[in-house]
Amino acid sequence: MTAPRKLVIAIDGPAGSGKSTIAARLAKKLGYTNLESGAMYRALALKAMEQPVSLEDAEALREMAENSVMQLDPSGEGNRVLLDGRDVTQRIREADVTAAASRVSAHPQVRQVLVGRQRQLGADGGVVMEGRDIGTAVFPNADVKVFLDADASVRAERRTLQNGPPSAEEAKRVQAEIAARDERDRTRKASPLAPAADAVILDTTRKSIDEVVAEVEGIVKRVAGE
Ligand code: DC
Repeated sequence: MTAPRKLVIAIDGPAGSGKSTIAARLAKKLGYTNLESGAMYRALALKAMEQPVSLEDAEALREMAENSVMQLDPSGEGNRVLLDGRDVTQRIREADVTAAASRVSAHPQVRQVLVGRQRQLGADGGVVMEGRDIGTAVFPNADVKVFLDADASVRAERRTLQNGPPSAEEAKRVQAEIAARDERDRTRKASPLAPAADAVILDTTRKSIDEVVAEVEGIVKRVAGE
């Protein structure tokens, strides 16, 4: 019997659409590697903040990206992230790095370096890669392309609930942060956040995680010919 083909599964969508959770669960079910491409932009943003290098200096950021080692360790529920050997998993999720990552990722020079790394990571298949441009730019020939979306207010709510019940102030801050990031990610010139022409678009606003995972699993099975 021949081994089943190891597919490349691209999951894209805006912040709070459920990408990370869905991608992690799906990868676990399929025995695939789950890779969070956004963690690379986050790690680079953190390094720029620490050096410091201006978040607008595309050339300096490109050089920094080329000279940095960003490792994604998918052994847990999400990715453990190492930047030049240092564990930055928690730090890169904080609000200041989140905002900086969106700015760093707008530069085509930076994207060129990180997209190249992402292609290497997924070259052998058997991966669920999540991000903003996986189906459009990183793996335009991915076997399965899913674009997850949800109403902005629901996405903001999901984000705040990740850290327990929020104060009204916190909820407002996250809503504003998501709106600003959406705007930047969708309107940038280089690989803006948008569904690939051949992506399946799933609106997760009123769906549970299990429902979405089951739907995506159904798509994967159809493609795999099972
Ligand atoms: O998925 P995330 O929230 O960790 O992504 C952080 C930022 O990185 C996000 O604002 C947009 C950017 N990003 C990107 O431009 N392309 C990707 N494939 C993944 C993330």
